Amino acid sequence: METTKTIRSQFAIDVKQGLGKERKSLPSKYFYDEEGDRIFQQIMEMPEYYLTRSEIEIFAQQRDEICQAMDAFEKPFNLIEFGAGDGTKTKLLLRRFIEGGADFTYFPVDISQNILEEFSANLEKEFPNLKVHTLNTDYFGALEQMTRFDDRRNITLFLGSNIGNFHLNEAEDFVKKLASNFKTGDLFLLGADLKKDPEIIINAYNDPHGITASFNLNLLRRMNRELGADFLLDNFKHYTLYEPETGEILSYLISLKEQLVNFADLQWKVQFKKDEFIHTEVSKKYSLTELEHLANGQGFDVIEHFLDDHEYFTDTLWKKKDQSS
Ligand code: AVI
Repeated sequence: METTKTIRSQFAIDVKQGLGKERKSLPSKYFYDEEGDRIFQQIMEMPEYYLTRSEIEIFAQQRDEICQAMDAFEKPFNLIEFGAGDGTKTKLLLRRFIEGGADFTYFPVDISQNILEEFSANLEKEFPNLKVHTLNTDYFGALEQMTRFDDRRNITLFLGSNIGNFHLNEAEDFVKKLASNFKTGDLFLLGADLKKDPEIIINAYNDPHGITASFNLNLLRRMNRELGADFLLDNFKHYTLYEPETGEILSYLISLKEQLVNFADLQWKVQFKKDEFIHTEVSKKYSLTELEHLANGQGFDVIEHFLDDHEYFTDTLWKKKDQSS
C-alpha cells in the first residue's frame, strides 16, 4: 500500500521530470489531493458538466438491463472499481446487486486515500452487509493485485470517463494490460464520454464559474503546499481547447509573464517564459466505433452499449474473449 510519503516523493520526481522538459507537462492524476477532490465534486455538480448526470441517468434507468447483461444474480463475482471517487454512481448499481441477492465482494481502487476512507465509512452506513476491500493504489498497482484475487470471475468498473484522461495510445496500452490480467469471460464496464457538439463539450471544461480553472490551478497550489514552491497563481491562466478529430479536450496552464519559480524543498528552480505552457490534462471523447475498435483490438467482445437519452455518454460492457483458440 502506498503511503502519503511515497506519493509525495513520487510527486517531486514527476514534477521535476515534467517541468524540466522543453514541452512542460504534469500528470493529471496530481489534481486529486484533498482540495482537488473537493473542487472536482463542485465540477460534477455544475450544470455545464453533463458527464456525471448522464452516467447517473444510465444507471438509474437501465440498471436492470446492466445487471442482466452481467449475469449478476446468477454467478458470484469480485467487483473491482478503478478510480472509485465518491461512488455516487456506483451506489446505484451496488444497491441493485444487493436487492437482487448477488454474491460479490466490492474492491474500490483510488489513488486518494482521503476519498477511499470517506467512501468506505459511507458504504458501511448505507450497506452494512456489503463486503468491501479498499485498494489505495493507482490502476496499474491494482491490476497487479487483481491477479492475486481468488478464482471468482471479475467484473471491473472504470466509470466517469476516466479512460478519457488517457491519450488513445495510452488507453490501448491500458486495455491491453487489463486484458492480460483478465480471465476468459471476465467483464469490463467502461464509462466513456461521446463525441458531440463541440460547444457542449468545451463549456463543460471552460465553465463561466471558474471552477475548472480553479481545479487546474490547484496543481500549482499543491506544488506550493507539498514541495515548498512559490507559484503566484495570478501569473498563470487556465486554457482549454477541443479537437473534434481526436475528440481530445486539452488543458493547459499558461504563464502570463517571464518568471522564475523556486521549489524550496527541492532546492530547485524553474524558469517560465511569457506565454509558455504546462500541459495538464487530456479528456478524450469517443465514438462508439472507436470504443468497439479499442475493445476488439485487445481481445474483448462488446456485449452492449448503454446510452443516456441525449446520447452524450455511454457505459459499455465488454467481455474477455477466449484467446486460446
Ligand atoms: C476525472 N475526469 C474524467 C474528469 C474529466 O472530465 O476529464 C476530470 C476533469 N477535468 C476537468 N473537468 C473534469
